[in-house]
Amino acid sequence: MMKTPIILSLLFAVSFLPAKAQTYEPSAENLKARQEFQDNKFGIFLHWGLYCMLATGEWTMTNNNLNYKEYAKLAGGFYPSKFNAAEWVSAIKASGAKYICFTSRHHEGFSMFHTQYSDYNIVDATPFKRDVVKELADECHKQGIRLHFYYSHIDWYREDAPWGRTGRGTGRPNPKGDWKSYYTFMNNQLTELLTNYGPIGAIWFDGWWDQDANPDFDWQLPEQYAMIHRLQPACLVGNNHHQTPFPGEDIQIFERDLPGENRAGLSGQDVSHLPLETCETMNGMWGYKITDQNYKSTKTLIHYLVKAAGKDANLLMNIGPQPDGCLPEVSVQRLKEMGEWMKVYGETIYGTRGGIVSPHDWGVTTQKGNRLFVHILNLQDNALYLPLNGKMVKKAFLFKDQSPVHIARAGQGIVLQLPETPVDMDYVVELQLVGQ
Ligand code: GLC
Repeated sequence: MMKTPIILSLLFAVSFLPAKAQTYEPSAENLKARQEFQDNKFGIFLHWGLYCMLATGEWTMTNNNLNYKEYAKLAGGFYPSKFNAAEWVSAIKASGAKYICFTSRHHEGFSMFHTQYSDYNIVDATPFKRDVVKELADECHKQGIRLHFYYSHIDWYREDAPWGRTGRGTGRPNPKGDWKSYYTFMNNQLTELLTNYGPIGAIWFDGWWDQDANPDFDWQLPEQYAMIHRLQPACLVGNNHHQTPFPGEDIQIFERDLPGENRAGLSGQDVSHLPLETCETMNGMWGYKITDQNYKSTKTLIHYLVKAAGKDANLLMNIGPQPDGCLPEVSVQRLKEMGEWMKVYGETIYGTRGGIVSPHDWGVTTQKGNRLFVHILNLQDNALYLPLNGKMVKKAFLFKDQSPVHIARAGQGIVLQLPETPVDMDYVVELQLVGQ
C-alpha cells in the first residue's frame, strides 16, 4: 500500500531535475566523429574573406581603423577570377590533410556563402556572385575530404552586434541592447551552414575573447551548441576561446601552440580529455598578407605535425588564399612536399595516439596498439634511452627500410643503438611491444 506514493514522489522529484537533464551527452555519432577526427590528425585552415584584397591580414579593418561602411565597398570589386574549388581541394588533399576548415564568416562580418539573412555576402554583394562555400563543399564531398566551418562570434560590420575590445575604431556605433537579433542572425546562419552544404565535420568558433573584460557577458553558447548538435549530431563543436572547454564542446582548440606549451601566449589553459587540435600559420599571418613571404620550411611544418601527434593533437595548418582566388604558390609547394612525406610516414601518424613515451627534446612517440613509433627529430647521438615503464619490446627496426635496430635493456626502459646519428627530417624507429 505504501509503494505507490513513494514511486510517485520519486517520479515527481526526477521530473524536477532540469539541470541534470540539460547536461550535454554526446550522441553515438558524435563520439564516433571524435575518434575519426583524432585519427585524421591533419587539416588545412583557409582564411579567406574581403580582407584578402587589402593583403594585410584578416585583422586589417581593426588594425588600421578602417571605416566599416567604406570597407564594405570592397565587396563590389571582389572577383576572384581564378577560384577553382577542384584545384584547391586537390592541392590540399595532396598534402595528406584529411579536412579543410574554411572561414565562412570572419570578424569583418562578410559571409563567404549565400545567406538569406544578410545581403553582405559573396553572392549578393559581389560581381562574382558564386557561393564559394557551396563549390568547396561539393568538391570536398566529391574528393572525400571533410569540411569544417570557422564561424566568428565577433562582427565588426553589423550594427546589432555587441561591442567588444576590438573593432572600436571602425565608425560602427556602439550598439545597445540584448543582442537578441544578433544571436538570431548567427543561429540562422549556422542553420544554413548545417543544412545547405551536406555533412559538416565541425563548427570552429572564434571571438569569445572579445568580451573577456566583461565576465557577465552571455554569448548564449549552450543554446547555440545544442542547436548544432540537433541539426547534425556528428558535427563537432570547438571554440577558440583559449579556455578549458565549456560544456557542449567536442574538441579542444589551441592557437599557435602545442597543448601544454604556451610560447605564443594564448594557450595557458589546462589540457582536457577531449580530442585536441592546434592551429598554426604557414607564414606569419592567417589572412593573405602580400609582404609576408616568410614561409616555414617543409621540415618545420612536418616537425610541427609530428610533435602535435606526439602530444595527441591534430594540426590545423593555415593558408591565406589570394584575391585572385589562387592559393599562394609557396603554400602549394609546401602542401606537395608534406604530402610526399606523408605518403611514406602517414602510417606512423594517422590513426595513432600519443605514445607511452612522453615528448622529449629529441622528439616524440606515437602509438597504434602494440606498435610504438619513435620519431627522432633532433638527436646528435646514435644512442637513445627510452623510458618504457617496464614494457618489453619484441622487435625494433627502422620504419623506412625495416632494418633491425639493436636494443639493450636499461632499468625500466631500453637504449636504442641506432646504426647512425639521425640525419633524416624525422628518423622513425618502430618498436613492437609485447602484449597491450
Ligand atoms: C585569432 C584571430 C583570428 C584567427 C584565429 C585563428 O583568434 O583573431 O584572426 O582567425 O586566431 O586561430
